[in-house]
This record gives sequence, C-alpha cells and structure tokens, in this order.
Amino acid sequence: MSEYQIGTNCIQAGYTPKNGEPRVIPIVQSTTFKYDTSEDMGQLFDLESSGYFYTRLQNPTNDYVAAKIAALEGGTAAMLTSSGQSASFYSVFNICSCGDHVVSSSAIYGGTYNLFAVTMKRMGISFTFVRPDASEEDLEAAFRPNTKAVFGETIANPSLAILDIERFASAAHRHGVPLIVDNTFATPINCRPFEWGADIVIHSTTKYMDGHATSVGGAIVDSGKFDWNAHADKFPGLTTPDDSYHGITYTEKFGQEGAYITKATAQIMRDLGSTPSPHNSFLLNLGLETLHVRIPRHCQNAQAAAEYLKEHKNVTWVNYCGLPGGKYYPLAQKYLPNGSCGVIAFGVKGGRAGAERFMKELKLAAIVTHVADARTCVLHPASATHRQMNDKELEAAGVRPDLIRLSVGLEDIRDILADLEQALSTL
Ligand SMILES: Cc1ncc(COP(=O)(O)O)c(C=O)c1O
Repeated sequence: MSEYQIGTNCIQAGYTPKNGEPRVIPIVQSTTFKYDTSEDMGQLFDLESSGYFYTRLQNPTNDYVAAKIAALEGGTAAMLTSSGQSASFYSVFNICSCGDHVVSSSAIYGGTYNLFAVTMKRMGISFTFVRPDASEEDLEAAFRPNTKAVFGETIANPSLAILDIERFASAAHRHGVPLIVDNTFATPINCRPFEWGADIVIHSTTKYMDGHATSVGGAIVDSGKFDWNAHADKFPGLTTPDDSYHGITYTEKFGQEGAYITKATAQIMRDLGSTPSPHNSFLLNLGLETLHVRIPRHCQNAQAAAEYLKEHKNVTWVNYCGLPGGKYYPLAQKYLPNGSCGVIAFGVKGGRAGAERFMKELKLAAIVTHVADARTCVLHPASATHRQMNDKELEAAGVRPDLIRLSVGLEDIRDILADLEQALSTL
C-alpha cells in the first residue's frame, strides 16, 4: 500500500479484504483462537509459523490497525499498546535493562518524564535529560558507555519545543544507539521522523489519531533502518539467543526490519500484557480514516486562535509553532512545513491566578485532562499533568507556572474565538 499518498493510506492501508470478506476492519473480539492439533499450536509458540493464539500477544484487529500506522509513518513493523505510556515504556525497555542509560530531551510529556525519572529509575535504568536546544557539547556530554537510546518528542507537550530530529539522530548514531521519537502531536500527516533519521517512532494514539477522545491507546513503529548487529554488544536482547523463546535470536530470525517489534511483542507484551482491546483498535481505526482531513483543520483553527491571542491586551505571551518570531519557528518551518498541531501555550494577565480565572470563565472550551481531540479544551499543566515536577524540572521541561495549554478543536473558529474573547474580557 505504500505506493499510495498518505491520505489514501489513512483510509486503505493495513487491511485488504479478500473476496466476500468484511469491507471494514472486523472487530475480532476473541481472546483465543482454535487449532486442530497441539502440534499446530506448538509451531506458533515457537514462532515457527505465524498465526494467532492468544490476544494478549496478537489479535487480527490490532494488527490491521498497527499495519496502517506502520504505513503512515513509513516503517517496516508496528505494534499497538493499550496506552501511550506503555508505548513509551516498551519502546525503551525493549532495548534497555537494569544498568543501562538513556539520553532524553527534557521537553517531554510529564507522564513520560515521571515514567523515566522515577519508575524506570527504580528498575535500574537511568536517564540524563538534556534541553532540546542543548549545545553540541552538552548533548555529547550526556552520553555514557552504557547509553542505549536517545528519546525526544517531535513537538513537546506542552512546551511546544520542536526536536531537532536530524541533530539528535546524528548524536545517537555517533554513539551507536537509536533515536526514539514520540510523534504524538505532529502525527505522520505533518512530520514523518524516519525521513529525518529517527529509528523508532511512538504515539499516544489517544490524541489526534483517535481524535474523538474515545480510546486510550499507543503505538510503536520501527523504521527497520537501525543496524542492531553493527552494535551487537549494546543490544544482546536482540542479537543473542532468547532463552524464553527456545534460543531464538531475533535479528537472525526476523532481520533488521522485524527484530525489534517481534521481540517487543513476543517477549515484552507476552510478559507485561499492555494489550489494547480489539474494540478500541476498531475505534482508533475510525479516527485514522479521517486523520488527513482533521489535522489541517486543527492547524488552521489553531493558527487563527494563536494570531488572535497574540494581539490581545490581556494575553502576556503566546507560544505556537506557526507564529513567526517564536524560538522554535525555524525548526517548525523545517520539520513541519505544512502545519504543526492544534495546541497553543500562552499566559494571561494575573499569572497563575489569572490563568485559573480565565479557564473558569470559558464556556465552549472545557477543562479536561486531555489534548488533541475534536473538542476545544484547556489545561493548566503545572497543577495537573506536570504537578509532580518541582520548579526546576518545570523550567527544564519548558512549562511556565502560568502556562495555559489550549487544544484547539474542530468547531467553527468564530465560536472558539468568541469564547476566548468573553473569558479574556473578564480579566
Ligand atoms: C506526547 C505524549 N506522549 C505520551 C502520552 C501518554 O499517552 P497516554 O495518555 O495514551 O498513555 C501523552 C499523553 O498525554 C502525550 O501527550
């Protein structure tokens, strides 16, 4: 399907019905699959033949949707997870063990920061956080002999810092490790990180991909470009026999293009089980079918809202990737020439207290712990998603205490602007 344009792949990729089969991806709501002999089943357990046996590992509905996301990102293989958090965790844990180290951009989603800095630290995996605009020297100094990956977000939530993907990819590759990019906010409609050197892409599909706030989910996509064997000593989990799979060596059996996702499925998903429900994957697919239509409209509405806010006397600052003069505008022009996302960060008169007052006055835009769906919504990250961070950590993540995150939806822009106006006029 990859010969089609991305908009066609949003609708068609991943599932091609045969004669007489359902036109729409079917929901295979079955935990298990029936076989005639134990031998047939044994072959599947040994990864000697492909097929389904238990939905915790694989399910046809989930696989159709994963294949669509792989096509959209231009990758060779993908898997779905039950949340974006599990996608972030699996993407790193698939190649890191106790004693390993990861370099991460400090401008990342608060939940990812917590996962890395607290929970994975307890597992013995350490992280060095570097600013997305770190100098070459500071970036280089973050690497250690036990570094196994570099991590960043294309457009950081909520600071909207843009990752210089090429720069971070070359630093990672100089040290023989892959760059993992969370492409949630940009989506493959606006940026395809593999084209800039990233090796693994992850998503919280909960956001624009689902697009309607119905299903929490995640995805991991492999570019198939990282040569694990060239750095075999760093990645023994992929390049040496897996005792829990009868001595299979993933790179040998599934090649550079399939080793990473097969290991993540056969080993990590098998043992940790963050499997999405087939019904949620069906809903995710409905979102994907209109992704290429919705994303430009999100960007168009957000651009208009950002320009409006910038001119307003009660607004103290605005950060949006599409506003000329912004710190990350040049990188946005390079990596996101067709638009960035529907999320704007800004502050109002009265600082933190002003932000709370303004948000209370909004009528159309709702206060929700969510972002990037069809309905306009707002959040104050310092008191919600990022509240576990201290002031220093907030600053490094680019989250000012007065930052309001506005996720511009798909409503008529005149109603969105009118709502902002009436709330701002109360300050
Ligand atoms: C950029 C980004 N990555 C990952 C996540 C985690 O995803 P989920 O909430 O689906 O677990 C989020 C959630 O807001 C996010 O914004």
